[in-house]
Amino acid sequence: MLDRVCAGDVARKHHIQLRGPGGELRYEECFTRDGFEGPYSILYHLRRPHTQRLAPEPVKHGWLAPVAVDSRALAKRHYRTAGMVTRGPQIDSRVALLFNDDLIAGVVFPTEPDPIYIADADADQLIYIHRGGGTLRSVLGDLVFAQGDYVYVPRGLMHRFLPDGEQHWLWLSLTGGVHVPKQWRNEVGQLRMDAPYSHRDFKRTEFVGPRDEGIRDFIVRRGGVWHGFVLEDSPLDVVGWDGTVYPWAFPILNFQPRVSSVHLPPTWHGTFAARGALICSFVPRLVDFHPEAIPCPYPHSSTHCDEILFYCDGNFTSRRGVGPGSISHHPMGLPHGPHPGSYENSIGSTRTDELAVMADTYAPLAATPAALGIEDANYQDSFV
Ligand SMILES: [Fe+2]
Repeated sequence: MLDRVCAGDVARKHHIQLRGPGGELRYEECFTRDGFEGPYSILYHLRRPHTQRLAPEPVKHGWLAPVAVDSRALAKRHYRTAGMVTRGPQIDSRVALLFNDDLIAGVVFPTEPDPIYIADADADQLIYIHRGGGTLRSVLGDLVFAQGDYVYVPRGLMHRFLPDGEQHWLWLSLTGGVHVPKQWRNEVGQLRMDAPYSHRDFKRTEFVGPRDEGIRDFIVRRGGVWHGFVLEDSPLDVVGWDGTVYPWAFPILNFQPRVSSVHLPPTWHGTFAARGALICSFVPRLVDFHPEAIPCPYPHSSTHCDEILFYCDGNFTSRRGVGPGSISHHPMGLPHGPHPGSYENSIGSTRTDELAVMADTYAPLAATPAALGIEDANYQDSFV
């Protein structure tokens, strides 16, 4: 939720008549969060937005809910996603790797557009575009995204993805929503001047107006299950909308990193807050400048967090054996830190070119069979 956007035709006041050029009444849709207490957008449709029929056949689309493998030994883990091969639209080919009640983390390599409209009523989606780009088409307009963008899809928004070229995405499904951390807002909700990004750093949807793609199938994820509907007409019939709930994209390199005389904890790289998780961006930056500084991260026992790190690009100063597309998972209960030699060798360095996305989760993560299939079995012992 950022600043208010207003696009197309809207009534001059909430909940009063808006009419078309021939006097046709438009239909409001109040798209709300937290009942009617939270942020909202108001859309104006050509037709009633609630006329879907139950699909006559079982749903054929939708990614599979994660299932945990049997309990395993507590260990540091490394999963290599770069070699994975999946094909199809993102809605059918997402692979879940790690999850708890707050978050599902996985990867996807979409090869074609979603053939249906989708609404996820269980969770907000935050997708990091490691490779690729494309368009997120929704009832609010088109959001064009590129490599290195986080793409945010609000829970319940009717949409579909149109990827352009080869793709490799990290996706996070966040049950309790995802937000700009509170500390980055002033009392009127504006992003503070000392926040690590400003309103101008976000990409927003381009409003298009009513159109018909000929698609009438619509699926909704609720309770971890996909439910199918058939629409009477094109749902892309919005003539205007305003509000603060809408999809956006944030290029990771727009994040302004912090550096101190000595090493700052990962919290300072906090980019987005979610229930049960903090999402951090590690971007190229100067490093700690105290004459006796140790720029490499200190070993730590973060006893209340599981940590997953998705390695994007650059030279990962603290880790060996990982590469672009690697995911490390360091569970609570075990101290973790740099690989042998990295701590010592970092002394005297002045900058790092690493690019990575991290999620610290406050509840333990379980792995799926797909994660086991791409696991590097030697990772735990590689720290000895
Ligand atoms: Fe850590």
